[in-house]
Amino acid sequence: MIEDVLAQPHQIGDALWRVEAAGIASRDLAGGLVICGMGGSAVGGDLAAAAIGNRAQRPIRTVRGYELPPDVGPDTLVLCASYSGSTEETLACFEAAGEAGAPRVALTTGGPLAERARTAGIPVAGVPSGMQPRAAVVYMTIGALECAAACGVTPSLRAEIEGARELLEQLAEDSGADSIARALEDTIPVVHGAGPTAAIARRWKTQLNENSKLPAFASELPEANHNEIEGWRRGLDLAPLSAVFLHSPSLHPRLERRMELTAERLADIGAPVVRVDARGDTPVAHVLSLVMTGDLVSVSLAELEDIDPDPVDAIEGFKAALGS
Ligand code: F6R
Repeated sequence: MIEDVLAQPHQIGDALWRVEAAGIASRDLAGGLVICGMGGSAVGGDLAAAAIGNRAQRPIRTVRGYELPPDVGPDTLVLCASYSGSTEETLACFEAAGEAGAPRVALTTGGPLAERARTAGIPVAGVPSGMQPRAAVVYMTIGALECAAACGVTPSLRAEIEGARELLEQLAEDSGADSIARALEDTIPVVHGAGPTAAIARRWKTQLNENSKLPAFASELPEANHNEIEGWRRGLDLAPLSAVFLHSPSLHPRLERRMELTAERLADIGAPVVRVDARGDTPVAHVLSLVMTGDLVSVSLAELEDIDPDPVDAIEGFKAALGS
């Protein structure tokens, strides 16, 4: 797992090449892009939307489940992302998109998704096999970003994507992840994000779940200032909660202020608080740097507890019980 995370800078060029090789047609679609997937394969959709931010000229949505929104039709590009290619929810969306007459793209290592896409003559962007699906986050995010550019959601962000490589190389050398992990040791982290960092907070949460084998939660501001903040004092009596705040230069100034003030309030009542700042000078770099830092923290936390981050027995056991 640590090798896959540290390889993220090198995956950038490979991911761009693989999507290009799929030969996805460029067209301007009023319905924009829908990314269908689950877990580690869905997150690329959210992260792409966060990186595009208010530059989006068409809608970009992630669908986690069996059904597509009713408005999806011939003017919406549907990207079906499944690392294994055998996730039942994503396969159901693949079929539903075909029935709705939507143009489709598959992003996968193979499995029934690649098979069905090839039979139907649909572009398949290949993802390298041999990783855990969640470790393919760079492939999933770049796949979604390139599809967004192909259907008119955003102008090409290729320069930004390529420009993030050097930054991630630096991050691999010096991320501060070990000290963040020590601050979070033996706690249940609540990862706070706002605006573009809300999706990244969810990525941190899922990486803490799957790699560190911890319960963890994601919280979004400003909403949490209107409810969740009320539960912290009693929460700290009941559980060893900690709070992480993901900052980015792309944050609205009032969201930045809310993050700072929320962190101060939680520290005052005894919560361990960690602030993490995005690095780089583009929205794509901000997103990828915070994602890689979170991935490194999750692996570091596993290491501190002598846990192997790789296997996900509970997830696999659940899929087997469901016959999925
Ligand atoms: C496992 C992981 C899971 C899977 C999810 C969907 O590493 O991250 O969240 O991504 O169960 O499976 P795939 O990605 O194969 O469609």
